[in-house]
This record gives sequence, C-alpha cells and structure tokens, in this order.
Amino acid sequence: MSTTTMIPLRTRPAWRALETHYEELDKVHLRDLFAGDPGRGERLTAEGAGLYLDYSKNRITDETVALLLQLAEESGLSERTEAMFRGDRINVSENRSVLHVALRMPKSESLVVDGVDVVAEVHGVLDRMSALADRIRSGEWTGHTGKPIRNVINIGIGGSDLGPVMAYEALRHYSRRDLVFRFVSNVDSTDFAEATRDLAADETLFVISSKTFTTLETMTNARTAREWALAALGDESAIAKHFVAVSTNAEEVSKFGIDTDNMFGFWDWVGGRYSMDSAIGLSTMIAVGPGAFRELLAGFHELDVHFRTTPLQRNLPVLMGLLAVWYGDFFDAQTVGVMPYSQYLKRFPAYLQQLTMESNGKHVTLDGRAVDSQTGAVYWGEPGTNGQHSFYQLIHQGTKLIPVDLIGFGRTLNPIRDHHDLLMSNVFAQAEALAFGKTDAEVRAEGTPEAIVPHRVFEGNRPSNVILAEKLTPHTLGALIALYEHSVFTQGTIWGIDSFDQWGVELGKVLAKRIIPELESIDEPDLRHDSSTNALIRRYRAMR
Ligand code: F6P
Repeated sequence: MSTTTMIPLRTRPAWRALETHYEELDKVHLRDLFAGDPGRGERLTAEGAGLYLDYSKNRITDETVALLLQLAEESGLSERTEAMFRGDRINVSENRSVLHVALRMPKSESLVVDGVDVVAEVHGVLDRMSALADRIRSGEWTGHTGKPIRNVINIGIGGSDLGPVMAYEALRHYSRRDLVFRFVSNVDSTDFAEATRDLAADETLFVISSKTFTTLETMTNARTAREWALAALGDESAIAKHFVAVSTNAEEVSKFGIDTDNMFGFWDWVGGRYSMDSAIGLSTMIAVGPGAFRELLAGFHELDVHFRTTPLQRNLPVLMGLLAVWYGDFFDAQTVGVMPYSQYLKRFPAYLQQLTMESNGKHVTLDGRAVDSQTGAVYWGEPGTNGQHSFYQLIHQGTKLIPVDLIGFGRTLNPIRDHHDLLMSNVFAQAEALAFGKTDAEVRAEGTPEAIVPHRVFEGNRPSNVILAEKLTPHTLGALIALYEHSVFTQGTIWGIDSFDQWGVELGKVLAKRIIPELESIDEPDLRHDSSTNALIRRYRAMR
C-alpha cells in the first residue's frame, strides 16, 4: 500500500483546496457556468469502450476537475489500481487479492499470482461452462426421463443472484426464447413456490450458485429444490442430471450431493458482488450462448484497459468516482440515482445497490481508523421514463441534492414507431430541466397567477451525468458494469477504505441463527434478548 494513502483524507492538500473551492462554487449556478463557457458541453465529456460520458451538467469548473484529479493522485489511485491488476492483496481485512479483472482477460494474456496463471484457470472454467451451455442449448443434455432441459433455475442470493438476474433481463433480446429462466433468492418459501409451480421437474435444471456454499438462504432453497425434484423423479440418481453447482467450496458441494464433475469453480479473489462474469454467470451463458457471454467479457475487458491506461482526466470511471466523492463529501448529498432509459436494464439499479453499498458502506480506513469523511452513498433508481412519473418530483423541486446518472442508447433493439425518439427526448429533457430549471420570471411570463408562481419555479442547478452508448449489446453491458465497478474502486481509494470486504452483513446472520431455535421450539424458550426482541418473538410464536 502506498504511504500516501495513509495521510488522513482531510489533511491532503487537494482536499483542503477543495474545501475552499466548494465555498465559492456552492453559490454558482449551472446556468452561469454554461452561459460563460460555450464549449463546456463538448469539453466536459469523455469516451471509452463504446461509452460516452457527458459530465458537463455537474456543479464543477475546470478547477474543480483539476483539484479532484490532484486528490486522486494524492490518494494513490494509480498505484492502487496497479496493485489490484497485479494481484496484490488489497483486500486487507480478508487478506485477499482482488482480481475480478482477471475474469475477463483474453486467453492470450497471463497473470501469475502466487505461482499460478489465473488467466489460464479462468479460461479452463469458461471452456467447461461453454461445453455445458452448448449441451443444454442443443438439447443434448437430457434429464432423468430423457427429455431435454427447458427450464433453468438459478438458486443464489446477493452476488450469486443479482448479477445473473440483471444480466438475464438486460440481454433478453439475445437469449433463447424457448428456454425458461427463473431466479430464486429469498428464503421466503414464496420465491421457490412461485418459481416452480408451473414447471416440470424432469425438464428443469437447478444451478446452485454460492461462493461459500454455506449461505442460509441458498442452502435452504437448494435443499427444497432437491426435495421437489426427488418427489417428482423419485430417484437419487436424478440429482446428477438436474443439479449443477457454482462455488469455490468443492467440499460442501460434494457434501450436498452434487458430483464435482458438475461443479464450476471460481476463486477467493473474486468478491461475490464482482462475480457475475465468473462461473456465477452460468445461467447468463446458457441464456445467451457462449459467444455472446464472451462478448460480454470483452466489453468488461475493454473498460478495464481504459481504466488502467487512460490518463485520469479522460478516464470515465475515475471522473464518475470523483464526482460521487465531490457530491457526497462537499455537498453532503446522501444518494445517487441511476436511471437507465431502457426497460431491459430494469434490474440494473438493484444490481448496483449491492455493488456500490456493500463495497463502500464502510466506517474505518484500511488501517482501521475511523473515517474522517462520508463514505458510500445510497445508490438507487428505476428505469426511465417510469421514474419520472413517480419520484422525479423530489429530485426537481425537493430540498435534497440528488445527483443522477441518466443512461441511454442511440438505437433501440425493438424499433416500433417513434417510441425510441420519445424515450431519448426524455433523457435530454430531464438533464436540461435538472440543470437549468425555470426561473420565476419565466413562470410569470407564461401568465401564471402570482400566488402560484413559487410552486412552478424550478430552481435547477441539479447535477446529472448522461451516459450514452450506441446499442445495448453484451459488449456494452460489460463495459457499463465495469464502469461502475471501477467508479466504486475510485471512491473507495479516495476514502482509503476496503471496498472488498463485507463484515457488516455478519452480525444479523449470527443473531438470526440464535433466534431460529427460539421460534421453532415446542417448549416456551428462555428468551434473553432485549425487551423488544423478546416481545416480538413471543408475539410471532403466538401467531405462528
Ligand atoms: O451476506 C452477504 C454476502 O456474503 C454477499 O457478499 C454475497 O454476494 C452473498 O452473501 C452470497 O454469498 P454466497 O455466494 O457465498 O452464497
């Protein structure tokens, strides 16, 4: 770790300069920034891996950008990026390398970590996944009764679910429409019941996806799936034809009863929320085919190369990450809205929630001291234009500053009449309205009664990024995901936190394990929680 990252954030020269700069800029309106600088809308843009980022409608000047870039340098961003790509153990609290970037390196490259060429291992698994996907897609892989597989159900949660669901929805256009894909994550039995109620077990393949193969929700659903399949198929030998596993834990996979020949592995250097392009993407590969899956990986890789090699001032994820720090730490913005203007990307915000918040929701620095800044923002969003008719009111006229990312495509995959122009006109209109608003003079000039004028004024000065790509393809999707991954990395590096651990999810899991027997016991349990938890458990037992 570079020693510069150990200098407390607030004492770094760029941070100090940004504090003074913020005081001046806070009073400046985007209307004035644009009026005084006709080239702004073209200058404050960057391009890479097929993505175009317009960041001109942010509350920044060239000086802001220069200071933020200086902050990145003083925070050791370039060194830490190299350390990640080299396979250094930058996940300090788990003493692990962070190498999701190796998952998408081409076969021709090699990356040796602890004496092992991880790229060769990655491609070994990809080839096995491709063989399975081809066998299922061609009908060669048959179930217990000799029928081909028609239904694929991924059982997993968190990183072993959100990526696969998001990618399946995003790439539906490229998927096999004669196969059914479902995703079971919640331990609420409703999830399993609804996913399987209309399916025939002899045509169904379960992909049990769990990095650890110990996660309560996934193992509970996997056991239920096993019982469901056995009830219909009646014979233990059916399991081999209807269950495959994706995991790093071969021992638990075999204990569960899945032959490790039907297991697809990955490695402890892939974090759960960074794993959709590992074997965790098996359901995605079955849906879109090995070729399209490799295009997805190529999109990720192109953005990785962009992140690693492009100067910081033209580097998309660096710019986006720095802007997130700027709003969170200086403007006290608590959230970032991500609004994809694509129905196919409807699960993208949910996917980003884990990526961003499990990564950067941290309270101590890498060396264990309390952070002296804000850390990860709340990421959220919905596809446009739906969100406009729901919560955009608050973004336009509420009292909170909410920076938004608006994502749009040049061409639709479903050209019908003028739908796409209508959709995209809203992307541009929203960014324009947020930035420039509508003054009281403009409202009055429309003949608005004086009492109503204040209600109809739009203050504007609300920041947005617009991200454009030509078309939603597997390649574009890969680049888009990597864009946010590396933006998260940039933010975490500035804050000096470990973006790759997730200790904050542990306590609830431990407490739930203690409560399970108290809910299930026949005798009245001796409850030793606080008075509220005791009362809630008693009430539940009475209702049960
Ligand atoms: O509880 C959080 C978490 O550990 C996530 O980080 C992870 O993606 C998810 O649970 C699922 O874990 P696994 O893949 O090991 O089942």
